[in-house]
This record gives sequence, structure tokens and C-alpha cells, in this order.
Amino acid sequence: RQLVVAIDGPSGSGKSSVSREVARRFGLAYLDTGAMYRALTWWCLDRGVDLSDGDAVVEAARALPLAQGTDPDRELVFVGGADVGAEIRGARVTEAVSAVATNPAARAVLVARQQELIADSGRRIVAEGRDTTTVVAPDADARILLTADERARMARRGLQNGGVEDAEQLRARVVGRDAKDATVVNFTEAADGVVTIDSSELTVEQTVQAVIDVVVR
Ligand code: CDP
Repeated sequence: RQLVVAIDGPSGSGKSSVSREVARRFGLAYLDTGAMYRALTWWCLDRGVDLSDGDAVVEAARALPLAQGTDPDRELVFVGGADVGAEIRGARVTEAVSAVATNPAARAVLVARQQELIADSGRRIVAEGRDTTTVVAPDADARILLTADERARMARRGLQNGGVEDAEQLRARVVGRDAKDATVVNFTEAADGVVTIDSSELTVEQTVQAVIDVVVR
């Protein structure tokens, strides 16, 4: 039976771990749309594409030789045969990704690919990102906006980065990226029919349960 779950939210809201776990519990595929923006950014940087040249970025999006897996237990992101799974999480890509994500025509190209992956899953998938509830899969069976207050989001991001970073620097970076992203996609308030879950005071397991409650109701 078809089951599409769309989960959006800002950086540090717990989207990725929660989405992966929800996919496992229901035996669904998992689509990390953010990884696609990161892979495109990596490729642009690798090939020396000027990120401020909108047309060049769109051309790169069209030509992007991407192989992305949808197994929640195995992240697989290959660009032109190179395994970029680790590099796309690095600071270089993270700092540059908003330049790509704020390009509407490049977004359209990636959204079409995301919709193909959803179709390829037999529409049994958890899709996660910033615009899956509104643009990629507005027809999803369950649509969730996962939020968390700034304090919780910074704490989670800090842990992911190994706790080595200065707290104020981290805040400036994360809030700055979210602000740039929010200029093209509104993921700060829930669209019609989208259920908001605030994970600030919840553990991952409690958040997973809250999502499951929305899916089964
Ligand atoms: O690391 P974080 O969870 O904040 O982000 P991500 O899900 O890995 O996405 C990385 C970047 O891709 C975001 O900062 C956005 O610029 C962009 N993105 C987007 O524009 N639309 C999506 N559906 C997913 C990601």
C-alpha cells in the first residue's frame, strides 16, 4: 500500500534522524532532499562553476550525474562515480549550499528528480527537507513540520559537529543559513494541512512516536 510521509523543518530540528527511523518502522524508503542540494553544490565547487552565475548553476543541475540511494540504513550519494557522502556534509559545501538552493530554476530541476525517486519507490517513502510538504509532495499522506526552538537546534548541531565549535559562531552560521533558505522556501510556519511537531523538549524516540501518531491517524 502507498504511504508517502513528508517532513520539513529547519537545521537541527532532528529531521534526518527522525525521518530515517520513521522510514525503518514502516518499512519505507527514505529520501534526503537536502543531500541532493549538497551534491549539486559539491559538483559546482568541484568543477569550478561560479555559484553566483545562476544560469551556470541551472545547467549544472540539469547535467548533474547523481546516483542517490533511498535506503534509510545506508546513505548512498555518488556524483559522477565518486562517493561524496562524507564530503557533502563538510563545511565547504554547507557554507555554499544556500547559493544553489536559492536558485529557483535549479530547484525546479532537483524537485523533478525528487519526484521521480518518490515514484520509483512505489510511493512508499519518507521524504525530508524544506519544501517536501509544500512543493515536492504536497499530496503526501502525512505532512509534518518539525520545529524546535533555537536553543535545542543549536545544541543538536553543536553535538553533530563534535562540540568543537564556538557557540556564537555556530549560531551565526546556522541561523544565517536558515534565514537565506527561508527567502525561497517557507519552512518556518506550517502550510494548510501540515501538522506541526515541536521537538524542543522531546527525545528522538518521543519525536518518532509523535510522527507515527500523525501517520496512523
Ligand atoms: O543540515 P540541514 O539539516 O540544515 O540541511 P539539509 O537538509 O542537509 O539541507 C542542506 C541545504 O539544502 C539547506 O540549507 C537548504 O539550503 C537546502 N535545501 C533546500 O533548499 N530544500 C530542501 N528541500 C532541502 C534542502
